[in-house]
Amino acid sequence: MAESPQTHQKFDLTILGASGFTGKYVIREALKFLNTPSSPLKSIALAGRNPEKLAQSLKWASHPAPPPSLSIIKADISDPSSLLQLCKQTKLILNCVGPFRLYGEPVVSACVDVGCDYLDICGEPEFMERMEWIYHEKGVERGSLVVSACGFDSVPAELGVMFNSRQWVAPRAPNCVEAYVSLESDKRIVGNFGTFESAVLGVASVEKLQELRRSRPRRARPVDRVDLASPLDDNPDQDSGTPPPKGSTVEHQKKIGLWAVKLPSADSIVVRRTLSVLTENPGGIAGVNESNEQVERRENFWSTVKPAHFGVKIGFKSLLSIIRIVTLGIFIGLFGRFSLGRWLLLKFPSIFTLGWFRKKGPSEEEVRSASFKMWFIGRGYSDVTLASQGNKKPDMEIVTRITGPEIGYLTTPIILLQCALIVLSQRDNLPKGGVLTPGIVFGPTDLQERLEQNGISFDLVSKNPSSA
Ligand SMILES: NC(=O)c1ccc[n+]([C@@H]2O[C@H](COP(=O)([O-])OP(=O)(O)OC[C@H]3O[C@@H](n4cnc5c(N)ncnc54)[C@H](OP(=O)(O)O)[C@@H]3O)[C@@H](O)[C@H]2O)c1
Repeated sequence: MAESPQTHQKFDLTILGASGFTGKYVIREALKFLNTPSSPLKSIALAGRNPEKLAQSLKWASHPAPPPSLSIIKADISDPSSLLQLCKQTKLILNCVGPFRLYGEPVVSACVDVGCDYLDICGEPEFMERMEWIYHEKGVERGSLVVSACGFDSVPAELGVMFNSRQWVAPRAPNCVEAYVSLESDKRIVGNFGTFESAVLGVASVEKLQELRRSRPRRARPVDRVDLASPLDDNPDQDSGTPPPKGSTVEHQKKIGLWAVKLPSADSIVVRRTLSVLTENPGGIAGVNESNEQVERRENFWSTVKPAHFGVKIGFKSLLSIIRIVTLGIFIGLFGRFSLGRWLLLKFPSIFTLGWFRKKGPSEEEVRSASFKMWFIGRGYSDVTLASQGNKKPDMEIVTRITGPEIGYLTTPIILLQCALIVLSQRDNLPKGGVLTPGIVFGPTDLQERLEQNGISFDLVSKNPSSA
């Protein structure tokens, strides 16, 4: 096994922003794998601007056991030298400091400078695409792997599309996959302020994202799909295909018993970036030091993933909940454009979100009672040759589903930790470096099996002739 530039670092991983609401759940998940048999995780450091808060979070995360002795490192986003020092000591940074558009870049920059690997739980497309634009080449050169969206945003979407797509065995082929996210709980479903703030600031950066895309060369789009749908149809600048019919704004999806509306999350954008990279590299991206066997395994994996149009909706059992979410969307969409509106939203999150987001986050009980289901309804052809026969409509449907615990503070830490363990144990099989999507980096690894072993399941629900 070749030595990576990070082989001699003091810590296997450092959790930055470990004092945050999500950060403390990430510590709790990480402790489950510290020094356990066959775990590559032998040392963890906690980092942030307030050592006392970090120590409190460690105490909370290890309760009822006494806190283990972990190194606590002071690092502030506004102090680049503290970040460089931090990155020099660790193989891998798990960044939980958000909103990422405000605080993320100095961390990526320090990791790339030093050549350490970086994962985060960002769900902000503008930040992710900007980092790719600025740091990809340097990351490749320095051997620093930078992967955003290693949480509920957007790993279930990435792996879910692949899982659905892989059920379409030739001559079958998918045309589009629509995902429906459904959040369930006996208690209230509540998110922490940090996620709300990231969403509100996201509205203000929509135009920046469009500007950024206009300034960049066009990305490749999947060319061998069996429809004309563009993978980039949220991005008119890059869209040259005809997407499947849009359908109504509010949809009643009888098959899964949900009312649904489009979810403006990062998922579809991240999946499209993955498909674009795949179009440019049909066998995926080579590992830094992979064996011939691994090359074959990776290429075989990607040969079973067929690109398809992808969209995400959020679904509820009642129409009333749809009205609530649309109202929330309108508030964020309108108020988020102006600084006074943003101030009001961020000052009174509970009022404007009708209780969905709280400054102090959900209680432990609310977190424990929540769960999610993410349905993937794939439509396509029972025989791929049908697709070339004019306007022949899809005649087959495959429904798959991912289920798991609460999304922000249980599922996200589970995903982030499993991605981290893969980086630590299978680095030779992963790309040398660069800013890449979780799908491209972790798709051909055992991430799905690992998530299944940790409470997130992937099921084939049905394969039927299409009724659509
Ligand atoms: N992908 C997903 O599905 C998912 C799930 C959950 C959360 N998230 C994202 O994760 C991010 C964090 O959310 P959260 O609810 O955990 O927020 P939070 O509770 O506000 O935590 C923010 C963290 O950032 C730290 N921080 C802020 N400014 C800093 C600075 N200048 N230097 C160093 N550290 C600094 C805070 O430190 P202090 O404690 O010292 O203030 C805290 O540890 C958000 O962007 C959210 O959208 C994503």
